[in-house]
Order: sequence, then C-alpha cells, then structure tokens
Amino acid sequence: MRKNIVAGNWKMNTTVAEGVQLAREVESAVKAAGELKCEVIVGVPFTHLTSVKQEINIVKLSAENCADHKSGAYTGEVSAAMVASTGAEYVILGHSERRGYYNETIEVLKEKVDLALANGLKVIFCCGESLDERKNGVHFDVIKKEIEGSLFHLGAEAFAKIVIAYEPIWAIGTGETATAEQAQEIHAFIRGLLAEKYGNQLAQDTTILYGGSCKPSNAAELFAKPDIDGGLIGGASLKAADFMGIVTAF
Ligand code: PGA
Repeated sequence: MRKNIVAGNWKMNTTVAEGVQLAREVESAVKAAGELKCEVIVGVPFTHLTSVKQEINIVKLSAENCADHKSGAYTGEVSAAMVASTGAEYVILGHSERRGYYNETIEVLKEKVDLALANGLKVIFCCGESLDERKNGVHFDVIKKEIEGSLFHLGAEAFAKIVIAYEPIWAIGTGETATAEQAQEIHAFIRGLLAEKYGNQLAQDTTILYGGSCKPSNAAELFAKPDIDGGLIGGASLKAADFMGIVTAF
C-alpha cells in the first residue's frame, strides 16, 4: 500500500525565527488533528533544517536541494551528507525552479539522486512540462525523459525510496491549477512508466504527488483521483492554516 503525502516546499521564504514559528504551528495543528490519512513533510531552506528539526516530531523534515558532489572545494554548496546530518529524512530534487534558474540538467540530477540515496535520504523528485511543451503536445515525452534520465538507472530497492512529484510549470505559483483530470492523466502515465520498468507492484507502491497552485479549495478534488497520492505545496505551505486545509483534504 502506498503512502499519501502532503509536503510543503517553503522555497526561499521565512527567516529562521519565522520558519521555526511556522513549523511549530504545523506540528501542533497536526498533533491536534489526530489520526491523519497522510504523512506531513515540511521542505525548508538549508539554514532552517537544524532549528526546524527541534520543533517537529510527527511532521517530517525535507531539504529543498543538495549538491551534486560528495564533498570538497565547492564553496557555498550543501552536500547530501550534510542534509542527512541535520536529521532530515527527505530532499526535494529536480524542482523546475532549480532546473530553470540553476541549469540543473538530467545528468546533474542523476548525481544528486545517487548522493541523496547513498546518504539515506528519500527523494521527492519533481518533473513537469512548460506551457509551450503542453501546447506542442510533447508533455508526455518531457516527463518520460526527466524520469528515465535521472531515475531509471536505479535498481528496484533504491527506487522504492523515491517519491515523484508532477508539477506542471505553468501551474506553479500562477494560481492556475491543472484540472484534476489533467493531473490524473499524467499521474497514470507516470505510474505506467514505472510499471514497465519496475513491474506493477513497485509502480502501485510509489507515491506520486501533484504540485502547482494546490490549495485547500482544490486539494480534495485532486486527491480523490486514483493516482494522485497527495501534494507538493508551495505558496499555501507558508500559512499553517492553509497547509492544514490541504493536509486534511484526504
Ligand atoms: P505553488 O508551488 O504551490 O506555489 O504553485 C508548488 C511548487 O513549486 O512546489
């Protein structure tokens, strides 16, 4: 049985003090909510990992990135081992903002995935097409290439540590959500790819999240789809009440 997940992606927002406060609010809301139908994760900036870790227990911790090298002379970079040493359980890799603004290629992401797994981190691996790619009808090809190129060298045991997040670039931070049908179509396609490569059981066991302007008002409809196992939440993860509105949408 695969796990449902709602993961926040704070991006480059909040000071450490603000982040600690937000994490505290999320943890206490999750505690108060009692039994939930999903795992709750907060994805926070590197600078916040250690402090946020002190505030959470039920809520799990994720970084938003890690380096594509093991260690050494890479000024300003943060390695997967460093992330793991903070107590983080997850790392988000392949976000379209990293691919777009920081030129993270399929090959670079492959290195990052390997280093994250080698250091015991689980990976929330993002993929998704731009508006042009969707208009040109190549969205399936783009997603296939991203997943195959950075993940399909993994054996089944390693792949079991991967969560996929489908995030259409045109829906991120734009207020424009993919319809539940559009998202379901891609999620089913991704699960099909996984089944072809790793067999049906592993495909059925893999959590596939939707991301892109997910909010309390549309989460329930998205999460009701058979292949949508939760969300990766940007803007709406910055307010505990909004985030909880999504967490409780299952
Ligand atoms: P958004 O971002 O929820 O603000 O659209 C999602 C993401 O980029 O992970």
